[in-house]
Amino acid sequence: MTDSLDPTDWDAFRAEAHRLLDSSLDRLEDARNRPWQPVPQEVRAGYRLGDDEPGQTTAEIVDALQDRMMPYATGNTHPRFFGWVHGTGMAEGILSEMVAATMNANCGGRDHGMVYVEREVIDWTRRQMGFPEDTSGVLVTGTSQATVIALQAARVRALTHVRTTGQADDLNALADIAGDQGLWLHIDAAFGAWTRLAAAPYRQLTDGIGRADSMACDFHKWMAVPYDCGIVLIRNEAEHSAAFAARPAYLTGMDSGLAGGDPWFCDYGVDLSRGNRALKVWTAIKAHGTAKLGRTVTANCERAAQMGALVTAAPQMQLAAPVVSNLCVFTADTRLSPDAQSRLNMRISQDLQNAGVAVFSTTLAEIGGASVTCLRAAITNHRTTPEDVEIAIAAVARAAGHA
Ligand SMILES: Cc1ncc(COP(=O)(O)O)c(C=O)c1O
Repeated sequence: MTDSLDPTDWDAFRAEAHRLLDSSLDRLEDARNRPWQPVPQEVRAGYRLGDDEPGQTTAEIVDALQDRMMPYATGNTHPRFFGWVHGTGMAEGILSEMVAATMNANCGGRDHGMVYVEREVIDWTRRQMGFPEDTSGVLVTGTSQATVIALQAARVRALTHVRTTGQADDLNALADIAGDQGLWLHIDAAFGAWTRLAAAPYRQLTDGIGRADSMACDFHKWMAVPYDCGIVLIRNEAEHSAAFAARPAYLTGMDSGLAGGDPWFCDYGVDLSRGNRALKVWTAIKAHGTAKLGRTVTANCERAAQMGALVTAAPQMQLAAPVVSNLCVFTADTRLSPDAQSRLNMRISQDLQNAGVAVFSTTLAEIGGASVTCLRAAITNHRTTPEDVEIAIAAVARAAGHA
């Protein structure tokens, strides 16, 4: 008898799967009360994989996923998680990820539905970013991989035109310079790209983005699509495919049948086999619509402005730079020496994380002419309310001993 990996009792499996679906939904509904928490030693010990794993029942697996895995994530679903630039995910992600796992589509190419879904996601993004119709693109793990792909296309072009690339804030000015000099303009717009969906004045931050040769950005940050999913857009399709297309005979495309469906995504990146990233993006856009997604971006920028105003109103605190989008960087007490400020800000960051109150990350910035480790909030969470911002800044003030 051959072993099958299918459940032996589908009814029992179905009941356990429903139990896990319910606890996943419960957890997301209760995200506000589920901050990051450290992984207890005994839980970590339970992650151990032995040399001769005996296999477990579905009930045991569901218990492990529910009780020993789900509670110990990064905590970025919580509305006062402001650290680094983490996306928050959305309930529809549970739906699309479940269907993607069921279909288990290989999206490297060929002719099937998920390839057409990915083309729609790329084309929607292209239109939002103002790239021309014949732009090519591919969904990738994130902005890091997207940038490597764009750089490879730029490098292939540069074999005949050797120059450098640029990076900047005023994208129209950069595009002018790149055009004059024959440079490849790549824009790393990991989260900032989505200000294209926002209201004024935030949308204007990315004016000119559609003039780039290539851009990289993420759906898993500000678009709240579950990890992972980034995208690269490349203005010149021929330059994109020239950098990656290399199909051996056994991958020859056909006019019809499953081997149809040209162009194949494997010709636009480093992967041959590719998972179904597009479905979760498509589901998110369909479920919420462009305007609402844009409003969440605008609201996050407004929350950052609110945080900036609270910092400015506190006599001991100081912004390191004006708040122009969703980032707020500040020091908790300018009366201290630069070193003492750095120590204080690092302690506050850790104390607030460990208490489950809020997650600020840290960064180096200039305060009064000196380099100081500051608190940094990047607000990308659709659950963050004005009250969350007030709670977080009040907690900083208390931790700094102001209150
Ligand atoms: C501006 C910028 N570029 C690139 C990245 C890396 O993106 P990813 O983590 O999706 O690879 C980040 C991540 O925060 C970012 O903020």
